[in-house]
Amino acid sequence: MTYKNIDVYTLIKPEILKLRNIGIETANLDCRLLLSESLDRYETIYNHQNIYISKDEIKKFKYLIQQRLSGKPVSRIINKRSFWKKEFKLNDATLDPRSDSETLIESVIEYYPDKLEFLKIIDLGSGTGCLGLSLLDEYSYSEVSFFDKSKKSLEMVKINAQNFDLLEKSKYINLDWNVRDWDKKLMKIENNMKYDIVISNPPYIPTNDINILRKEVKKYDPFIALNGGKDGLDSYRSILSSLSNIIKSNGKIFLEIGKGQENHVTKIAIKHGLFPKEYKKDLSGVTRVIIFVIK
Ligand SMILES: C[S@@+](CC[C@H](N)C(=O)[O-])C[C@H]1O[C@@H](n2cnc3c(N)ncnc32)[C@H](O)[C@@H]1O
Repeated sequence: MTYKNIDVYTLIKPEILKLRNIGIETANLDCRLLLSESLDRYETIYNHQNIYISKDEIKKFKYLIQQRLSGKPVSRIINKRSFWKKEFKLNDATLDPRSDSETLIESVIEYYPDKLEFLKIIDLGSGTGCLGLSLLDEYSYSEVSFFDKSKKSLEMVKINAQNFDLLEKSKYINLDWNVRDWDKKLMKIENNMKYDIVISNPPYIPTNDINILRKEVKKYDPFIALNGGKDGLDSYRSILSSLSNIIKSNGKIFLEIGKGQENHVTKIAIKHGLFPKEYKKDLSGVTRVIIFVIK
């Protein structure tokens, strides 16, 4: 195969201009990420670096750019997204992990500084597994149960766990928190071993607001991962009403919430015997995580 030696910027400049013309602000970064994918490379590609590229690789790059021009996010084109310390694979049944959710990981680490502690953790609504697997990677002696209604998303968690060598300490539970007695079914699967930590980033967008989300979100993130019902709080009602049956008396709950939901979620939690210990903000200053304890 013949390879052309070319400066990256010379190759990507026309594509950057096309993406900018349709309002994509991250055009340069997107082009470099799609070029890395076309070259099967993992390291960063810089603008003024010389590379060797074949005709087929150029063809692949142009094809990926076409997908980006159609509005598909880079993470959905390459089916991966970096989160915390790892690169997670995605499929069409998983939410594209958001960096705001790293606030939850930071909060757990602040409350549990001993990385050698054995912690039994459950990730309710696990998606790619980005939250639970990041914690499992931090706390090597822990165990995480991944709980999701979507079988296809649990398959993705398994693949990610395998890639990170974390399969042994993880469990996969296909249940629905809207089904009666989901907590009892869960405890049966877990032989009545309660959790030290419950983490969850449940769907919290009010149904009518999904239509007005950016196209990249509403078209590519699964509806089930976004839809929080009429007022966005349905998942919190289902989850919080049963948590005291699955968590140890000294356990902690780390719950991600949507913008402006803190008072509503706190009220639901208090109704079910859970009390807010702290509210954590994300990098934009939005209250993103509530830490609850049992009184
Ligand atoms: C907002 S996504 C979060 C995914 C992942 N934890 C993250 O932070 O990227 C919510 C997840 O909850 C799952 N889910 C939605 N409704 C559910 C239900 N009734 N029972 C169990 N899981 C559910 C979805 O399949 C999705 O994976």
